[in-house]
Parts: sequence; C-alpha cells; structure tokens
Amino acid sequence: MARALRKNPLRLWERLYLLAHLLTVDVAHLSLNLVTCVGFAILRGIPIRHYFKCAYNRFALGRLSPREIQHLSPSTSSLYHKWIATTRAAAQTRVDSGRGTPDDRYILDYIHASEEVLPDGNASVLWVGDRRRASKFVLFFHGGGYVAPIQDGHLEWCLRAYVQAGQKHGEHVAVAVLQYTLAPEARYPTQLKQAADALAHLFKLGVRPRDLIIGGDSAGGNLASQIMSHLLHPHPEAKEIRLEHGERIAGIFAVSPWVSARTNDRSMSDNALIDMLSPTIIENLNHEHLGNHALYNAEKKRNQGWAMPADVDTGAWYKGLGKFVERVYVTVGTQEVFRDQSIVFAEGVRRTNPDIEVLLEERYDEAHDFILLEGGRKEDGSATRRMRRWVEGVFW
Ligand SMILES: *[C@@H]1O[C@H](CO)[C@@H](O)[C@H](O)[C@H]1NC(C)=O
Repeated sequence: MARALRKNPLRLWERLYLLAHLLTVDVAHLSLNLVTCVGFAILRGIPIRHYFKCAYNRFALGRLSPREIQHLSPSTSSLYHKWIATTRAAAQTRVDSGRGTPDDRYILDYIHASEEVLPDGNASVLWVGDRRRASKFVLFFHGGGYVAPIQDGHLEWCLRAYVQAGQKHGEHVAVAVLQYTLAPEARYPTQLKQAADALAHLFKLGVRPRDLIIGGDSAGGNLASQIMSHLLHPHPEAKEIRLEHGERIAGIFAVSPWVSARTNDRSMSDNALIDMLSPTIIENLNHEHLGNHALYNAEKKRNQGWAMPADVDTGAWYKGLGKFVERVYVTVGTQEVFRDQSIVFAEGVRRTNPDIEVLLEERYDEAHDFILLEGGRKEDGSATRRMRRWVEGVFW
C-alpha cells in the first residue's frame, strides 16, 4: 500500500544519530522522567501504576523529533491492519481451544479490516466494527501531538468503550478512525479539512447525526474542538457540513483536549514534572501543528478559535453550538498540564449553550490521557468505563 510507505525516511546519518542519542543522553533523560513522574505520584498520594508509561511517553515526546517518532512507530494505517489481525487471531485461538467468550465470537463476527480513502487521497477512515451492520457510529480522532501515529491503546479503547457498549445493548456500533496526515508534513488546517471530509463521508454513507458521536484525545480532542467550531463557523478551507433536517449530532467528547497554545497557566507549572506533557513539549508541538503561527495569529486577532478555542472568548465563539450538538463530554486529570485550559473550554461551551448537556469531569488521580494508557494495557479501567457509561447515556 503506497500510503503506508514513509514519505520522508530518516537518512543513514540520521539513524546513526538517533541510535547514538538513544544509547547515551536519552538513558539519563528517561531515568530522570521516571524519577519525577513516579516520585510526584507518590508525593501526591496517588496510585503509581500508569505513571511509568507517563514518564516513557514524556521522554519520547520530549527527546525525539517528529521524524524520529515516525521512524520508530508503525504508521496509523499499518498499525491498524496489524491490530485487527492480532485481535482476531487471539479471539480465534480462544474459540478454537474451547475457552472463547461471547466477546471473542463478537470480534470474529464484526471486526474486519476495512479502510476507505477520503477525497484528498491522503486521509482515510479505518473501521473498527462493520459499518454495514451498524446503527450507531463514532468518528474517532487519535491523539499524539499531531506528530505521532495511532497506538494499539486507541483501538482497544474504541473496541471496549464503543463497540462493546453497542454489543451490550443489542445494537452494533462501528467506529470510523480517521487516519490523518501527521505534522510537520501537514499542518493546521489540513487535519481539520480531513476531519470534515471524514464527517461528510459518513453522512454520504447515510449516517444520521443523532446516531453519531465524534471525539478524540489530546490532539484528537483538539481536532474534535475544531470540528465543533467548523459546524458553527464553517472554516473557509474545509468542506462545509450541513446537518440534515436540523438534526443534532448526538455527542462530542474530548479527552484531555489540547485547546490552547498557552504554556503559562497554573496547571502547566503545577504538573510540569508529573504529567506526560510539559510546557516545553507543548511549545514544540505548537510549532509542529501551527507552523509559523501566521494563520493562527490572524484568526485569533479576529476572535476566531478554530485552531485553539481556549485562546479566544470560548463562550462567545461557541455560542449557538446547541443547534448542532446535543451533548459534550470533557474529561481531564487534575495532574495534567492541560487541566486549566480544558476546564476553560468546557465551561465556555456550557456558559453560552444551555441547550447542550455538558459533562466536565476532573479526576484527581489521573494525568494526561489515562484512557489511552488503559487501552494500552488492554484493560477496562476507570476512564474506559466512564467513557462507556457516557456513550450509553447518549445512545440508549
Ligand atoms: C497529499 O499529500 C502530499 C504529500 O504530503 C501532498 O503533496 C498533497 O498536496 C496532498 N494532497 C492534498 C489534496 O492535500
């Protein structure tokens, strides 16, 4: 598959350089991150189990360039195909040995690889679930600072929180995972254009707004906030979305969303040493996502919040969103650098939209994106169960 090939592979000297810093200074950085993340978790009296992965992710985002990350990780599309194959094989093995559960049979029945290329020829939709037999849908945007491809944890989360919620209620939920172009190859607003194309694609397939939930984590939460903006204020560069018969989209969720380019909020300094992200990492990712900030700055000056809705008057920007969306769910950890900005975002939507049911959840024991870490461990943890409960409340 042509798109799975890397467009700009590391040259030989870049690979040698990567190997050299991985084997030397990075060892020290990783150890230091482990000490601070886990150490702060102990000091703050919270369970430490997820803080090891937190430290590792912060090391990767802080020490590796986007191209190095993309060199070391499989592309979104190839990871998806591999995940489908291993998930099916594991279910098949259990069924063959007589230890199969109803979940295993459900996976074998409904989970097949299916990828649909979107009109720009670069983005695609990767299905978790069988869209032909589905009555409810989720459009999912994965996080990773716009520089990292999807991880297994995202796909596990989609299976556990959405597909299995449908299974429980006797309806099939299919998740359309957007494979968007990563930065720095593509920057804002390319991913918004691709997300709008994906949404238009679903509507063309006959998906009704009231049967659809949209959302994502971190940078994917940013993309969800961009789509919220785009529904209300069509972005000049992206395809305009019209909802048929004035029907509203059932729900939009944003897990630990990245909704501001600021790095000076209180939560940034409070949590710089415990979270998976740090102000320095955010500065770098701002640059990867927004490039020279020219478009972002021009829009912000006009009080337009497509790129980062917490950097304008969020309530004023989203006033009227209730015509397009029924419910909004924002979840964030107390231990996150994004805590304050996520709260500003959710409260802004709530302030001007009495007709939207806004659920804002702040969890003391969590840092950034713990639902992803639960998915990475293939477990239905607290964040996964809370997401599933919210989806059940939206659809059933
Ligand atoms: C698709 O990606 C290629 C490589 O990044 C780029 O040159 C091209 O303009 C993209 N196509 C569209 C329609 O954006």
